[in-house]
Amino acid sequence: MKLLEEVQLKLVSSLKGKDLLTLLDYTSEEVQNLVKLATQLKTITKAGKCPKLLDGKMLGMIFEKHSTRTRISFEVGMNQLGGKAMFLHSRDLQIGRGEPISDTGKVLSGYLDAIMIRANSHKMVKELAENATIPVINGLTDLYHPCQALADLETIAENKGNLKGLKIAYVGDGNNVAHSLVIAAAHVGMNVAIATPSGYECNSDIIVKAQEIAKANGSTITVTNNPVEAVANADVVYTDVWTSMGQEEESAKRLVDFKDYQINDKLVAHAKPDYMFLHCLPAHREEEVASSVIDGPNSFVFEQAENRLHAQKAVLASILA
Ligand code: CP
Ligand code: NVA
Repeated sequence: MKLLEEVQLKLVSSLKGKDLLTLLDYTSEEVQNLVKLATQLKTITKAGKCPKLLDGKMLGMIFEKHSTRTRISFEVGMNQLGGKAMFLHSRDLQIGRGEPISDTGKVLSGYLDAIMIRANSHKMVKELAENATIPVINGLTDLYHPCQALADLETIAENKGNLKGLKIAYVGDGNNVAHSLVIAAAHVGMNVAIATPSGYECNSDIIVKAQEIAKANGSTITVTNNPVEAVANADVVYTDVWTSMGQEEESAKRLVDFKDYQINDKLVAHAKPDYMFLHCLPAHREEEVASSVIDGPNSFVFEQAENRLHAQKAVLASILA
């Protein structure tokens, strides 16, 4: 990591006042610069010198679902930047009693500087953003988890020294985390191989868009049902839960459908010897990942979780400062 004196903070100024709903809306240059900024902010924060760029700013954080990392890292991140964050559970707001999200967006715009929202429906978050006059940041929807993907890239870059040309294998459910990871990796020119069981593939429109971005950055996105093929020679191996929040009634069926997609010692033997294992967390040991892998020497999951703090500060500072 660079010495503090060498760190010249470069906010991604083209993002000022913008939403972060999906990284499809950002340019590759913006994504690449956010990742660099995240590492810079990590360095200066660890030196106790995080600049108070968001003095007097207030972030509202609406949650329709559980969260450990997203809630706490956003609140701590706002504090480190000199601002404040307010936790708002949707059931306590009038949206929990049917007030339109469009009215909520207009009202909150009069009080807050930005909104972060974790919601069931991406469509609802888009409607909030269309009606709010302040930036809206997606803290996870059914389709995307962009803040997670930025922290993922930061973690890989800090440990591998570069991103372009690396191979990342995602094995598991073609879900929100997978979608944002594929888009983010395409923006930095990583080669992506996704292996899902049949019937659990990623959204094909998102894959096509990610493939276009990857092509422009000289990399490829491949899709398969074969986990060994995906993991072969990978620099990074990534998985997420087989049953996401809100899908609990499908969990027994998913345990059966995903049983050949566990990240275990046998599967990672096909990756490069110095592969990194990543997982957005929370994890289910002995389901999607063996304990020997997630608790083993190639696992970076806790550093990855910590990096949520710095990657989100990069977003907050660029959007709000
Ligand atoms: N990875 C992630 O978003 O974690 P939380 O659900 O705890 O916020
Ligand atoms: N795919 C998971 C991610 C949790 C951070 C979910 O949506 O529950």
